[in-house]
Amino acid sequence: MAEKRMPSFAFEFIEGGGEDEVSMARNRDYFNTIRFVPQTLVDTSQRHTRVTLFGQETPMPLVIAPTGHNGIYRRDADMMLARAAAAAGIPMGLSTLSNTRLERLPRETGGRFWMQLYIFKDRELTRDIVRRADESGYEALTLTTDSTVYGMREWDRRHFRAPGQLKLRSKLDALTYPRWMFDVMIPHGVPKLENVIDFFPPEARDTRMATTFIPTLFIPDITWDNVAELREMWPRKLLIKGILSAEDARKAANLGCDGVILTNHGGRHADHVVTPMEVLPEVSAAVGDRMTVVIDSGFRRGSDIVKAMALGAHAVMVGRAALYGLGAGGEAGVRRAIHLLSEETDRVLAQIGCPSFDRLGPQFLRRDAPAPAR
Ligand SMILES: Cc1cc2nc3c(=O)[nH]c(=O)nc-3n(C[C@H](O)[C@H](O)[C@H](O)COP(=O)(O)O)c2cc1C
Repeated sequence: MAEKRMPSFAFEFIEGGGEDEVSMARNRDYFNTIRFVPQTLVDTSQRHTRVTLFGQETPMPLVIAPTGHNGIYRRDADMMLARAAAAAGIPMGLSTLSNTRLERLPRETGGRFWMQLYIFKDRELTRDIVRRADESGYEALTLTTDSTVYGMREWDRRHFRAPGQLKLRSKLDALTYPRWMFDVMIPHGVPKLENVIDFFPPEARDTRMATTFIPTLFIPDITWDNVAELREMWPRKLLIKGILSAEDARKAANLGCDGVILTNHGGRHADHVVTPMEVLPEVSAAVGDRMTVVIDSGFRRGSDIVKAMALGAHAVMVGRAALYGLGAGGEAGVRRAIHLLSEETDRVLAQIGCPSFDRLGPQFLRRDAPAPAR
């Protein structure tokens, strides 16, 4: 439904993965190599999906992942996601590159918010986001570490003749979506990156120029020293989003971080990288008793969530699953997506004979043995 309701350049921004999309495909395929081993004749009539996340109870171990540029799918898209998350009682991640100023969410919707952070070349911009997120009462800061070099999403790039400049074919395609045009583009044009725009030079504030300017904000010079600095600056929960090994998770723990987000960015950046699910057991064994382990990339079904929880995750983030709902039906669509995931999770727990997440573990799973090395 989302695909039918927006021009293809917008949908492919959601859908695309890096290069040959091997990482992205493996994120999904890996779930199919894990099967449930149900326990039978277990009373699951009183079952529930509640967990405690950073000391607060949530109805589901689910978090909305931070995604940038959401305003190209729907007007006020970040607020729609925020309201749906608040209604479901789950935290919502807001991207630094959102089309909504971060102050608006806590003020207008209530709920739990996690601010996603990039460390840009202009460190003052980063400090500004941290200070404002603190003043607005964000519960957590999630530092994204896997995007210092932009991913090459070829499907996405095919729509542009130059950064920010759609090809004629894609412009004509957009014109065939009048509802989208009136909702998103009229009267203000492409939505602005409200959190960071004040820091752009005047000539880059026009959206077309901003698209060219954004990649220049990233330089791959950030290191664990920046994490230590951030730990000093930020008083509440700090998570590193971009971890894919037990070694790096231990480093985060040793620097006083409160959590890690295992992710390959939904397969949107580096191709041919491990899928977070395959490293989850080792990360959980290394740091699961002292940090919150969140995982994302490829989660589409309740059964995926149950598998991750059985392998030691404390919560799951969804990016595209929420955006499909948003594109299909705005706030109601996001609510529907969250409802589907919750309902499926509940049903799977019942079907495998597990009344709650605290009774779940790897004993409920079986995996194909890896192919023998040649
Ligand atoms: C359209 C889109 C935009 C994204 N923008 C950001 C972003 O601005 N910052 C960030 O840390 N991650 C971003 N991500 C990555 C998500 O936070 C998350 O890691 C990923 O979507 C998880 O994979 P999934 O889409 O398969 O659920 C984006 C993902 C998508 C699909």
